[in-house]
Amino acid sequence: MRVCEALTAMLTIALSKGRIFDETLPLLAAAGIAPIEDPETSRKLIIGSNRSDVRFIIVRASDVPTYVQHGAADLGVAGKDVLLEHGGEGLYQPVDLGIGRCRMVVAAKASFDYGGALKRGARLSVATKYVMTAREHFAAKGMHVDLIKLYGSMELAPLVGLADAIVDLVSSGNTLKANDLVAVEDIMPISARLIVNPASLKLKRDTVQPVLDAIARSAPGTVDARSPVRAPNSA
Ligand code: PRP
Repeated sequence: MRVCEALTAMLTIALSKGRIFDETLPLLAAAGIAPIEDPETSRKLIIGSNRSDVRFIIVRASDVPTYVQHGAADLGVAGKDVLLEHGGEGLYQPVDLGIGRCRMVVAAKASFDYGGALKRGARLSVATKYVMTAREHFAAKGMHVDLIKLYGSMELAPLVGLADAIVDLVSSGNTLKANDLVAVEDIMPISARLIVNPASLKLKRDTVQPVLDAIARSAPGTVDARSPVRAPNSA
């Protein structure tokens, strides 16, 4: 019985290494939570915290929603880009954390006449790892495109003739510039969301709710981030 209780009370937070991890740390600190190891230097995939009832799992950014959806993690932090591709099924997305901000854009070689191609109704090939978002974007514009799925380094595709354009994230713009590409269309602003397993929010409310509230209060983001998050039918 005691073992069971200890397991249900354990809070698992899924994070990816890099910018999301770094920018989530101050929000977790506001909830009194700090990891005891740095995932950049540790090879461990499960990392403890200063609290015996909180631990982290370190996963690929695109896998964060899957771990939370299936309850292998109670909470996670994932970019809107990743959540749109995942579909958001089985997840609460209560808080826009306002971290990891960037933009999703269409980009092409500076020498490519994207506007002209649109006017002519040309059928473009577009390389991206964001196929769901790209499909929706071009469909809404009534454009026919052939999407080519890639897993990274999309900027290479137009340079070697794999695609006419790419759909990718832009932050500083340095990667586009270094590869002689330009953003030709803005798709949407991107930031990271806190995601929650609905069952965890109900069954572990005493542990989960204070953490959610503290993170929401300290998030630099939006009005959303200030709203309290409650499980459905919670008292
Ligand atoms: C992202 C994105 C761009 C780059 C943009 O890539 O896909 O390539 O960052 O950043 P910038 O505008 O500041 O140059 P990431 O490093 O995540 O690797 P990826 O190629 O695997 O997507």
